[in-house]
Amino acid sequence: MNTAPGRVLGIETSCDETSAAVLDGTRVLSNVVSSQAALHEKWGGVVPEAAARAHVEAVLPAIEEALSSASTERPDAIAVTNRPGLVGALSVGTTCAKGLARAWGVPMVGVHHLEGHILSVFLGGTLVAFPHVCLLVSGGHTEIVLVRSVGEYELLGQTIDDAAGEAFDKGARLLGLGYPGGRAIQDAAAKGDPDRYPLPRGLKSDPLNFSFSGLKTAVLRLVEQEGDEINVADAAASLQAAIVGPLVTKAMRALEESPAKALTLVGGVAANASLRARLAEECARNGVPFATPPIEYCTDNAAMIALAGSIRLAEGQRDDLWLDAFANADLP
Ligand code: KG4
Ligand code: ZN
Repeated sequence: MNTAPGRVLGIETSCDETSAAVLDGTRVLSNVVSSQAALHEKWGGVVPEAAARAHVEAVLPAIEEALSSASTERPDAIAVTNRPGLVGALSVGTTCAKGLARAWGVPMVGVHHLEGHILSVFLGGTLVAFPHVCLLVSGGHTEIVLVRSVGEYELLGQTIDDAAGEAFDKGARLLGLGYPGGRAIQDAAAKGDPDRYPLPRGLKSDPLNFSFSGLKTAVLRLVEQEGDEINVADAAASLQAAIVGPLVTKAMRALEESPAKALTLVGGVAANASLRARLAEECARNGVPFATPPIEYCTDNAAMIALAGSIRLAEGQRDDLWLDAFANADLP
């Protein structure tokens, strides 16, 4: 896997984190993440217009900080997330990247956000054999992808409704644990009994697809039934188990059914300690190598975008001032 020569500046503004990073090959020289979580907390989710405005304010300071902590005045290339995501938010990053690329006279490339997540396992030079199965779990996506090589992705399974991160976030909101909910559920679950409240595990009979929307209704019913008597730690542990269980079972099933030589776990929900531990355990038991990035590269970050862009640049890919932003886009 080749990367572009010199230093690549990555820019990520697809959702609610404004991030800029500088990479030298696969080595992360800086990775600045400015989160808008506090801004969106009162709405219990991301407000697109507010997110775009916040990116406008945060993007240049993030880039300046990323460049200065990497002791870099001018990068050799720029990689920017241009799809999929909130179009207004993405446009802030792409417009900024186009201006800087033109001003500095350096090449620029648009990056698919999910390809960034998939390739995040390679940050820092970690080696993972191809083909491998990638479990990609974030606030917007839950996919099992067979990664044959960089750029050769085959979708093996996905959610038919809510994403795993959404199930964490909606459950946390119903349990009064705030936004974003994944980390809050994990913390509350630490002292809870996962068997206390039985919650549904959607699409049990479908080996590789997921359904998490029934969970939200079940948690709502639980909260209504139990009222003040509810044990939040037990409810959080039960919810976490109902999300992590199917993710583990189906990722392992995908491994069995495919020619994959390893399993990777990426995306914001990959930060979940229970999911990381259970997959590591299952893989060790089955003698399959398992890789997941450090937590700072699981949730949205520009380092993974810089890496995916760097690999694309090394293949000769370039974008120009016509680079557009797209709400939806298939994996390249
Ligand atoms: O990849 P990401 O940062 O943004 C998207 O591309 O969507 O993922 C954000 C999601 C949120 O739903 C958040 O609750 C979840 O990742 N998350 C977690 C944890 N940390 C973040 N979910 C479970 N456990 C965590 N520790
Ligand atoms: Zn993401």
